[in-house]
Amino acid sequence: PLVSMKEMLEKAKAENYAVGQFNLNNLEFTQAILKAAQEEKSPVILGVSEGAARYMGGFKLVVAMVKALIEEYKVTVPVAIHLDHGSSYQKCAEAIHAGFTSVMIDGSHHPLEENIALTKKVVELAHFHGVSVEAELGRIGGQEDDLVVEDADAAYAIPSECDQLVRETGVDCFAPALGSVHGPYKGEPNLGFDRMKEVMELTGVPLVLHGGTGIPTKDIQKAISLGTAKINVNTENQIASHKAVKEYIGSNPDKYDPRSYLTAARDAIQATVAGKMREFGSSNKA
Ligand code: G3H
Ligand code: ZN
Repeated sequence: PLVSMKEMLEKAKAENYAVGQFNLNNLEFTQAILKAAQEEKSPVILGVSEGAARYMGGFKLVVAMVKALIEEYKVTVPVAIHLDHGSSYQKCAEAIHAGFTSVMIDGSHHPLEENIALTKKVVELAHFHGVSVEAELGRIGGQEDDLVVEDADAAYAIPSECDQLVRETGVDCFAPALGSVHGPYKGEPNLGFDRMKEVMELTGVPLVLHGGTGIPTKDIQKAISLGTAKINVNTENQIASHKAVKEYIGSNPDKYDPRSYLTAARDAIQATVAGKMREFGSSNKA
């Protein structure tokens, strides 16, 4: 069933695993992620960036597609549809009214007080509708769709500010930028685990790790042990599907029916997502 992230993440934090947020890019991603969740008996968060929603035909279309597939596949595990990196109050409101069960308001590029005021406004509307909210502090580097943060502008979150934001806004979960990057890493990731521990102790809310692609398993495990209950993955599924399509077309150059090579893509995404669910410990937790 469609639910908010709140109970999902509190259970994950209490039982020491993380729920994956897997981003939707098209129909095949949505099919693959829902199938993997059901087969792994895992809760799942479907992440939708504003750019991906635009590509697919808007928030309402995404909600209708997800609901129809949940029915078609008889999905019984908890599923959240979550706006990824919401850029404004307006966009969050639009997603909530279209039927999203969760939103992220990314006010991380604003000064602290403005980020708090904006996040607070979104929380008021969201909670009125039973929708959960994620906020961010510090700046996650790299690129995801429209969101580009140069290396020089990437910044680690400051724990006392995280405490203030979480306390004053009442968000359900929180993403402190601590060295993770959207897209592939240049070299090994260098995550700020000391600060992560501090943020966990100060705020008490489930933490979110963005830029899940390319983080070694030992770091994933450490992050989970320090209160991370949600891990976002997009690029890894995109790379897996791209590789599958290339290989399929390489060995079947004349198969022009999109259903042939997109089936290869879909299978690769499903296998990747199932692997992440096992790595994050969310398999058999639904
Ligand atoms: O918000 C989405 C994620 O943080 C995805 O990051 O594409 O590096 O896996 P990724
Ligand atoms: Zn992100």
